[in-house]
Amino acid sequence: MNVTAIEYEKQSTGAQENARQLVSKLMADNREYDIIVDMCCGTGYMTELLAKSVKHNRIIGVDITADFLSFAEQNHKPMDSVEYLLQDMSKTWDEMSPVLKALESKVSLIVSNRALHFFEDKPRLMHVMSRLLAKNGSLVATYPLTPDLMSRITDEEKRAFGLQSFRTPSPDLQIDDMVRACEGTGFQVLNKQQYLYEWHLDAKIFLARKQFPQIFVPLISSEDNPEKQALIQNLMFDVALNPNVRRLNPDAIAELGSPPTFQTVFHIPLVNLKCIKL
Ligand SMILES: C[S@@+](CC[C@H](N)C(=O)[O-])C[C@H]1O[C@@H](n2cnc3c(N)ncnc32)[C@H](O)[C@@H]1O
Repeated sequence: MNVTAIEYEKQSTGAQENARQLVSKLMADNREYDIIVDMCCGTGYMTELLAKSVKHNRIIGVDITADFLSFAEQNHKPMDSVEYLLQDMSKTWDEMSPVLKALESKVSLIVSNRALHFFEDKPRLMHVMSRLLAKNGSLVATYPLTPDLMSRITDEEKRAFGLQSFRTPSPDLQIDDMVRACEGTGFQVLNKQQYLYEWHLDAKIFLARKQFPQIFVPLISSEDNPEKQALIQNLMFDVALNPNVRRLNPDAIAELGSPPTFQTVFHIPLVNLKCIKL
């Protein structure tokens, strides 16, 4: 991630709310777990919540960002049962570290908040999660979908910005892809509920976030020219403000002007995914 752990914790009030929602559902199940993995745990906010709210023997927060994990070790390790592990989860099972591989077939629950969208190769990720889980173990995740931006700008705008071949698959297609990845790796999908999460905050804070484009997926590559990057940021901003608008405004940010604050609601399409390892 291109933000420090401290910045991330300050800016991620939306992810924290989703984490609390996810953990309250687990609390309502009132089950006891042996090993829980918090997949892509970030700075450890949800890992700590889980540790304090769900009965367990061990909780392992896994993430690729070393700075986030040191923050988690210092700020979100409420008890000895909590551990953090540095691991790139985009690798194949064979490439995983011995510490992760030692968990094979032992994990009772994998939880993941706002992270599955980072993985291009979903079948590979699901294969790794399936290897980690014991039979009947669960995967419970909340992750964002990319709004279909390209169907909401004109052909002329696409041509002007060189975006003719740029695709944003529909939310339904994105869920279908995920379901295929799960079913192809030994999971049964029990829930794939899609909803619009309403994030109440000051738009200035939203715009100041360095990882702003990644709220949905890393649609913008640093190699893209600045005009294209700016256009996509504008479209994302507009669709977050006006999720049902038919034509997106390529100048949404500029037209906002500079109000000192701008309390608003951002709409983020999320999926609640629940799978069981057969
Ligand atoms: C948006 S943050 C969510 C963090 C945390 N789950 C939360 O709810 O705040 C996404 C996290 O995924 C992690 N991540 C991205 N790609 C990863 C990978 N290949 N392997 C492990 N972690 C990854 C990032 O480092 C980051 O901490």
